[in-house]
Amino acid sequence: MQIMNTLLILLGCNLLSGALMSQERIVLHSQNSAIRLDLMINANGVVSYSVHYKDREVVAPSTIGFSLKKPAIELNAFECAGFDTASVNETWEPAWGEEKSIRNNYKQLVYKLTDKNGSGTRINLIFRIFDEGVGFRYEFPVQPALEHFIIGEENTRFHLGANHTAFWIPGDYDSNEYLYNTTRLNAISAFEASAKEPDIALKSPFHNRAVQTPLMLKTDNGLYINIHEAALLNYPAMNLVLNEDDYSFTSHLVPDAVGNKAYLQTPFRTPWRTIIISDDAREILSSRMILNLNEPSVIKDPSWIRPQKFIGMWWEMHVGKASWQKAGGKHGANTANVKNYIDFASANRFDGVLVEGWNEGWEDWFGNWKEDVFDFVTPYSDYDINYLTSYAREKGVRLIMHHETSGAVTNYERHLDTAFRLMRQLDINTVKTGYVGRIIPRGEHHDGQWMVNHYQRVAEKAAKYRIMVDAHESVRPTGLHRTYPNWMANEAARGNEFNNAPALGLTPEHETILPFTRMMGGPMDYTPGFFRFRLNQFDSTRKTRIRTTIAKQLALFVTMYSPLMMAGDLPGNYSLYPDAFDFIKDVPVDWDDTRILAAEPGDYVAIARKAKAREDWYIGLVTDENSRRLELNFNFLDPKSQYEATIYADAADADWNNNPAAYTIKKQHISARKKIKIAMAPGGGCAIVVRKK
Ligand code: NOJ
Ligand code: CA
Repeated sequence: MQIMNTLLILLGCNLLSGALMSQERIVLHSQNSAIRLDLMINANGVVSYSVHYKDREVVAPSTIGFSLKKPAIELNAFECAGFDTASVNETWEPAWGEEKSIRNNYKQLVYKLTDKNGSGTRINLIFRIFDEGVGFRYEFPVQPALEHFIIGEENTRFHLGANHTAFWIPGDYDSNEYLYNTTRLNAISAFEASAKEPDIALKSPFHNRAVQTPLMLKTDNGLYINIHEAALLNYPAMNLVLNEDDYSFTSHLVPDAVGNKAYLQTPFRTPWRTIIISDDAREILSSRMILNLNEPSVIKDPSWIRPQKFIGMWWEMHVGKASWQKAGGKHGANTANVKNYIDFASANRFDGVLVEGWNEGWEDWFGNWKEDVFDFVTPYSDYDINYLTSYAREKGVRLIMHHETSGAVTNYERHLDTAFRLMRQLDINTVKTGYVGRIIPRGEHHDGQWMVNHYQRVAEKAAKYRIMVDAHESVRPTGLHRTYPNWMANEAARGNEFNNAPALGLTPEHETILPFTRMMGGPMDYTPGFFRFRLNQFDSTRKTRIRTTIAKQLALFVTMYSPLMMAGDLPGNYSLYPDAFDFIKDVPVDWDDTRILAAEPGDYVAIARKAKAREDWYIGLVTDENSRRLELNFNFLDPKSQYEATIYADAADADWNNNPAAYTIKKQHISARKKIKIAMAPGGGCAIVVRKK
């Protein structure tokens, strides 16, 4: 078997007998040898794993196990019952994405264990070793000793062993809308970080040393480590709790209303725990390991699933020009207003118009833990949905549906079929869902098993109706867009609406951290493209502002990958800078190829993407609050061709703080041999279109 070349078994599993053999170890290297996994079982039956990157220990021996509530057993000591190995090297084509095809190349080890404490429970540990990291999951096979069971806690450790720099948000059962903190591990204080965030509607931090995943880490000797999970289905999300004595994290699953973690039945496989490692930060962003660990698409014919760029009846409400509710006389989603949005979308090559506040219920939608809020089918009387649907069709754009559940998820589930049927009838095939506020069933959390199952049910039901989904306030993604390519995007992080949040808002570094954290799990509906920065346009008392430059807003259409991309600002504000707006009109939302040109978490990101089925490339560069010069190497271009670049850059005197709208647009001849230096202003960026001549 080919795998045996690199599979080193120091003491074979079946040889474990007698006191002399205190330790058994299996060692497995990735195909390129950069990653090494060690799996150990000691004389007491304690199983641990460790991970090396280029001979450096990244994860020191870390134990695995479970506390079950029912049956009440501790799974922490095992006997090895054998193992299997396999290797896979394949490529697959996503329905849409950052590249046309994806290589999936790993070695697999299935390590079969039996509980040593007497229950006889069988559990398999499945490891996949990729060139850039390790994924592992637990499998509970069908067995007489265990059928129905309740998880009290999963006890997976990640023993990092040093006080790394971490990019983290507080562990929380309900919200991932925090601003990122960059500190040493020993300075993690989730409660302090949470207390600084009065603008998050619902927070449930639970432990001062807890953080969420994706967790991005940097070591003092220049290694980048990302810890997350893949294929989160029928199981709660995993938070991580720091043990500062040895700088290890232990998994902490989100509980349900009665304090249990998960109700399971054999056969069951947990989500994958993922550890991605590199000495080059760019390789963290180019990793497709999390996608590869997800199952192939369940949608056989994905032809109806289309990446889209759209605008929204949305920011008007956030900046106080209009309201979601009809009462009060400022209703945004009225027929005449939405008609203008349709005209604007049609004139500027957008695919759709999102309309929020179209349906009855917004007078009383939030804060009361009320169950029957919306029915998702009754438009306000000033919103002529049939007329607007046919008007949009005439104009070659589509309306995008909005289903705000206000956390009343039982109510949403009762109405889901009727709501999706209405969408089909109106030929609306994309929905933005939302889960603002406390969940009903009362006591459940946004990231618990019940809600994880709900998001999956919505994705599956939507697929039956041929509907694409963009979920807000959902659990953070784990690569499930491979399996459900109609579940295209999520917010599930601090999005641009927080530009209007008085306390912390958004900082210039936010967009240099998100790709390394939240976006490791999948596309984010980030709604970039703001052209007006002081948010007192309609309400002179507002002090909120957007800390950015125009050039950076353009760059985000490339760096913040999403197949559902909403240009966030008001149509009227786009007319302030029509030549900059040209970039937003041009930029595609589906790609054949992606190259990470430069990246450092918290500092800068530069990404080039090749437009789907075209020879043109689009490049986005963003920096944090510091000005920066990056040299771009165009060696990814076809060496036999000539190109013209249109460069949307920060002007020399641009600055997010006092001169955000200063930009230049220049054209330049480019070829594969060329290198150019790009200067970015503090809080700025740069967007480039590279067209083949
Ligand atoms: C929060 C969402 O993230 C935002 O986009 C939406 O406008 C409001 N909820 C209202 O549903
Ligand atoms: Ca920085």
